[in-house]
Amino acid sequence: MQHNFGFILPTEIQYGQNAALKLPEELSTHGVKSVLLITDKVIRTQPFMTDIVDNIVAQDIRVYLFDQVEANPKDRNVEDAAEQAANLQVDALIAVGGGSPIDCAKAVSVVATHGGSVRFYADAAKITGEVLPLYTIPTTAGTGSEVTFSSVITNTQEQYKFTIKSPKIAPQVAYIDPQLTHSKPAELTAATGMDALTHAIEAYTAKAANPLSDAAALHAIELIHTHLITAVKEPQNAAARDGMMTGSLLAGIAFSHSDVAGVHCIAEALGGKYDAPHGVCNAIALPVMMEYNRDYALERYARIARAMGLEFKSAAEGAEKAVERVKQLAEEVCLPEFRSLGVKEEDLQELAENSARNGSNADNPRPMTADDYLQVLRNLMG
Ligand SMILES: [Fe+2]
Repeated sequence: MQHNFGFILPTEIQYGQNAALKLPEELSTHGVKSVLLITDKVIRTQPFMTDIVDNIVAQDIRVYLFDQVEANPKDRNVEDAAEQAANLQVDALIAVGGGSPIDCAKAVSVVATHGGSVRFYADAAKITGEVLPLYTIPTTAGTGSEVTFSSVITNTQEQYKFTIKSPKIAPQVAYIDPQLTHSKPAELTAATGMDALTHAIEAYTAKAANPLSDAAALHAIELIHTHLITAVKEPQNAAARDGMMTGSLLAGIAFSHSDVAGVHCIAEALGGKYDAPHGVCNAIALPVMMEYNRDYALERYARIARAMGLEFKSAAEGAEKAVERVKQLAEEVCLPEFRSLGVKEEDLQELAENSARNGSNADNPRPMTADDYLQVLRNLMG
């Protein structure tokens, strides 16, 4: 088969211990005089935050703070932060945190310069001009958002998550230090780690996959499979935290250049409706959706099994083993069950329709209608 693809990675990556200490100099080099630092209330109180801010201030750069980002970042968070950024006329944005502050900041970079409601930019063609430069410092191993060009925002009126996807919102530089994840509790490590695994598996099996995204996805699967359980059980294990951070980064690169698919369609429908944690939604939907997709990507699922170190004699056996192994992993990290998300029988139709209208649905290896999603959701209800 002949491939046709492009590959763009506008974000510079600085990876390693104390990576974020390089940020102030970068800002000075670009003549930045003031920044808006976007984060959430929990991250704001972390000891590393003081170091990050002090080092920037030491370069004579003013740092303003927006710490109101909610989980599953809301349209109102983006618009509030954008108003603040525009009023203060800051030169750049810094996002510190998990996927929520980083996704929020990407959307702020657009709204602060283009104005209006963030919902307008679900059509990325509407981003016609320059956006504010963004620098990212991830504190979880999962989102990959530090290097992706996607921002997922909740439309609070419709209780629906939409994605702004454009290389224009790619961060300038991502400063990635696995040490920042050491203080994360087991449930968060598990949920964000399963999100990263989902990115890698979906990127590898999505219709938009290409050889470069494949390479990143397969190595991500291997790393995450090797390190997830240890990172959950031994939070201070530096090798496991490093493996998860690298895995999450590679998975982010993979899905930016391929796509996510049905699992994310379901997870985003659930997140938009019930404000449920993204990683937990993915962890719950991943094994069921893999089962559903298996026969449509048999060889690819078998290749995933190989990346997980599993042995098999045929593609069918390999694919079966990959699904089983992912099921086991989700159980081993002890995430909450589907019903605990507050899902109601009477909402299933709406959830199925929102899954089907997700921009990534077209890339699922098996064609999925709202009725198909309804069937998957009914399976999950048990
Ligand atoms: Fe995700």
